[in-house]
Amino acid sequence: MKPVRLGFIGLGHISTHAHLPGLAPLVEAGEVVLQAFCDVSEENVKKQAEVFKPGAVYTHPHAMLEQEDLDAVYVCIPPTLHTDEILIAAGKGMAVFVEKPQSLDMAQAVRFDAAIRKAGVVSQVGFMSRYYPSAEKAHDLLKERTARHAQVQLFYSGKPVRYWTSRYELCGGSFVENTIHTVDLLRYFLGDITHVSAFYVARKPGEGPEPMNLPHVYNVNYRFAGGATANCTTSRVLTNVKASRREVLVVSDDSLIEWSGQRVVENGEPVYDVAERVNPFALQARAFVEAVRAGDPGRMRSSYENGMNSLASVLGANASAERGGQVVALEDFIAGKVSWTPENSSAGS
Ligand SMILES: NC(=O)c1ccc[n+]([C@@H]2O[C@H](COP(=O)([O-])OP(=O)(O)OC[C@H]3O[C@@H](n4cnc5c(N)ncnc54)[C@H](O)[C@@H]3O)[C@@H](O)[C@H]2O)c1
Repeated sequence: MKPVRLGFIGLGHISTHAHLPGLAPLVEAGEVVLQAFCDVSEENVKKQAEVFKPGAVYTHPHAMLEQEDLDAVYVCIPPTLHTDEILIAAGKGMAVFVEKPQSLDMAQAVRFDAAIRKAGVVSQVGFMSRYYPSAEKAHDLLKERTARHAQVQLFYSGKPVRYWTSRYELCGGSFVENTIHTVDLLRYFLGDITHVSAFYVARKPGEGPEPMNLPHVYNVNYRFAGGATANCTTSRVLTNVKASRREVLVVSDDSLIEWSGQRVVENGEPVYDVAERVNPFALQARAFVEAVRAGDPGRMRSSYENGMNSLASVLGANASAERGGQVVALEDFIAGKVSWTPENSSAGS
């Protein structure tokens, strides 16, 4: 079997701690070749090359995409730093794996989506939660239920570790940067979201650890195309204690489902439990490589096209919060009739 030739753009935290370790068994089995790495930091790309041994290293994506014949490219850079890498890669017929959030600029994501669809290449957004076997179980159960509402509570604790993830204008806030995974998971369970209304509690200068300017609280309400609603509360109030909360509940007629990565409980009874912890990044990596080998864009659970509704749902929440909770129709948000951009945002401080 011919190995799938991969390139990486961005060798930061997620590539080196999740995707490359997830791909390691495939590299070992000869199913994947790490052909080229590219990072704008020469020091970093050389350091990671010593660990993962790619065929070549670059410090500019253009050079890598021009000189390397790749089957697929992982694009793992912060969301405000995308330029034309995805357009070039898709234009050359390469499959693209793009980390979430795909962009903080909906108009840019619309352009990338159109290019990927036109090229007909395999694509995947880094929504790995859909690859937990527990997510598949809940997804299958909910096909047989009439869901009415969902409730998400994510009370994060600790301090953001990277500068850009502590700044609202660079990451879009915790709801965009982190809760997008759970919003995407709710879509896997309940289908597309049509409307959003949100209230945030802003962080005033001097409140909490520097340089963080993220809102304290994000209270977000969703309406799904199928008629269900959801409320998602995310907070970044707990910074110096060990307490935190992570809860995903879906309520259907006579069914209360509690979801977590390792477990699904219905009406108080476990209906799915794993003895060994699963690594969703590894399962996602295998699915991506198999889709690339088959040249079949339909195989992925979170193609770029599919992920557009998740992205609009979280950027649309920012747009709503900055308009005093005004209901935003995601159709209008994607069409650019209502917009949110990091440059014009105010909810962060
Ligand atoms: N799926 C998940 O659970 C998960 C977890 C963490 C991060 N992420 C996402 O992954 C993306 C990257 O985050 P990270 O934590 O790895 O960031 P990071 O800051 O640790 O690393 C980013 C790397 O990209 C490099 N870079 C920046 N612009 C570049 C460019 N144009 N070309 C080549 N290299 C470039 C930087 O030098 C840096 O090494 C973000 O979108 C983030 O939201 C996803």
